[in-house]
Amino acid sequence: MPTPLVIDTDPGVDDAVALLLALQSPEVELVAVTASFGNIGLDGTFANARRVLALAGRPDVPVAAGAARPLVHRGEACASEWHGDDGLGGRTAHFPAPGAGDPRSALALTADVLAAATEPVTIASIGPLTDTALLLAAHPELAGRIGRIVVMGGGFSGGNVTGAAEFNVHADPEAAQRVLTQSDVPVTLVPLDLTMRCLADDAWLAALDAAGPRSRLLGTVLAPYRTAFRARHDIDAVAVHDAVAVLEAVLPGTLRTTPMPVTVACDFGPTRGATVADRRRGAAGTPVAVALDADVDTVLAEILRRVTRMG
Ligand code: BDR
Ligand code: CA
Repeated sequence: MPTPLVIDTDPGVDDAVALLLALQSPEVELVAVTASFGNIGLDGTFANARRVLALAGRPDVPVAAGAARPLVHRGEACASEWHGDDGLGGRTAHFPAPGAGDPRSALALTADVLAAATEPVTIASIGPLTDTALLLAAHPELAGRIGRIVVMGGGFSGGNVTGAAEFNVHADPEAAQRVLTQSDVPVTLVPLDLTMRCLADDAWLAALDAAGPRSRLLGTVLAPYRTAFRARHDIDAVAVHDAVAVLEAVLPGTLRTTPMPVTVACDFGPTRGATVADRRRGAAGTPVAVALDADVDTVLAEILRRVTRMG
């Protein structure tokens, strides 16, 4: 019986890889997708999520619109320098037309999925944590229906938006604090420390390109991201952050985790949005399973093997 999976996302080129990975994984059934602001604005991510599902031939998966802004403080989250102004590397015109969106809000759709679930649902949160925080706050009675939450976010040795903060956490630090410090649902956190080691290199991208027309389109979506990566990091490869987290959601235990309480800097100083792990033995607070290590070659090969199933 496949595990029911909900993905909250802000596509986003690595989000697109992650969604396609989930759709090509028989271990899970993608029962809903929710979109929030993030890499680009909500209108764009909502349409992009539906474009990616249309590319995979799965317009039947319900997609609902979630948060258009952070929970508490107005923010300016945007990563179009990585993902393109359209969020899909300037390639949205090459995707099939997006299907209709679900008329429910992200909160209502996810709550309906959880209320109807007959087994624990996994939630993969691969954008700002706003929708996931709202869900936990609004529906505590449904927390027991969630098997675990897998989050791509944070970084314990520096950030990618500021020196201290990773994009998804920095986009809504109060939401991230709400999710990472609660004790109702187990959380696995997949931070930059690991995802920046999961680099899809030239051979990986060439194999994607050779696998068929849909894979080739995904390769063109990744091309500007690769250029940006080269300019910023002087590495000819791309970090497929969100796909690493979704692989863990699909195949629990793929990543090696260490339990430790994690809090988020929510002040307005230079560390706003930083994740702070307490590694002291017996540290107080709810432990989060932090994925700090994995067999990186296996992770990359598994993502490629699954995504290219779409041809
Ligand atoms: C995260 O930020 C976004 O730009 C990516 O899609 C990913 O979710 C990496 O820090
Ligand atoms: Ca993302």
